[in-house]
Amino acid sequence: MIFDLQSLVRQNIRNLKPYSSARSEFAGAAEVFLDANENAFGSPAGGGFNRYPDPLQIELKKLVASAKGVDPTQIFVGNGSDEAIDLLFRIFCEPGRDEAIICPPTYGMYRVSADINDVAVCEINLTNEFLLDVPAALAGITPRTKLVFICSPNNPTGNLMRRGSVIEIAGNFDGIVVVDEAYIDFASESSMIAELASLPNLVVLQTFSKAWGMAGLRVGLAFASAEIIGLMNRVKPPYNVSGIAQRAVIDAFHDRESVEKWIDTALQQRTILAETLYQFESVETIYPSDANFILVKMADANDVYRFLLEEKVVVRNRNNVELCEGCLRITVGTPEENQRLIEALARFEGR
Ligand SMILES: Cc1ncc(COP(=O)(O)O)c(C=O)c1O
Repeated sequence: MIFDLQSLVRQNIRNLKPYSSARSEFAGAAEVFLDANENAFGSPAGGGFNRYPDPLQIELKKLVASAKGVDPTQIFVGNGSDEAIDLLFRIFCEPGRDEAIICPPTYGMYRVSADINDVAVCEINLTNEFLLDVPAALAGITPRTKLVFICSPNNPTGNLMRRGSVIEIAGNFDGIVVVDEAYIDFASESSMIAELASLPNLVVLQTFSKAWGMAGLRVGLAFASAEIIGLMNRVKPPYNVSGIAQRAVIDAFHDRESVEKWIDTALQQRTILAETLYQFESVETIYPSDANFILVKMADANDVYRFLLEEKVVVRNRNNVELCEGCLRITVGTPEENQRLIEALARFEGR
């Protein structure tokens, strides 16, 4: 399979002369900044917020690069990984003409982004074991298919996709394969970032929203070849990640022990939660999880969901999702939160 990146890119993006921001037009050690029409006096909130942030997040990328073993040119930093998903549609998919493959049940934003960008979606359902149906996915590829989205560990099922399946799809497809690893920090296997060297059409998404505990800051990552990342940087809004978000993530790298500790605790709690839930009569199946949530099949998911809401405990009702009928998706909380859930369920069964 010949992968030719340039021929995949939309004509208007190929021709694009990107916006050149004030802060990207000079290099060197300036002292007086009269180039960006900022408020030179300060900001009521302090914090240097009167200045625009680094458009290419250089300091942050250096830290990510050394943590992940890639070059900074292979990293895109976005306003959440949702921004990266949208950019990939805008770079590669001609509205009203091109197609993307998604593998339901999966994260909802792939379809929403496709719909927003007027890109047709081909759904290749996961198997009953929630694994990729590789022959069906390959058969679903048409000359118009530009993107294949694979979520691993998958939301809402929680399982990892087989590495070999992802490699097989990527190796037999001349478009872009996006592997969304939002939950990889909780997983028992390592990232597909290691495959970037051999798969030029691979894009790996990660995020600071999950294990790193910074969902409110909106910082997501894409890893790919320097050429693909270059395209993403051309199309993104110039200052897409706020200064406060960049600073907070840089600071977070100095406290990676807390992140590791939370991951360990979440994994322990996941086991305890699953074991405890199995003792309830209404729990039929708990699917194995490589993420910080579990998918639980229940005899009466809608009733349980409503009862939990009355008890002020919110879980995600996936009952109406194909292949997840009867399922609730439950995020692993703190021990106290998990206890609240268990007590509420006990009340449900004792009604
Ligand atoms: C699989 C998956 N990808 C991406 C996201 C969104 O990540 P971000 O907060 O970085 O936009 C989520 C959030 O729930 C998710 O489940």
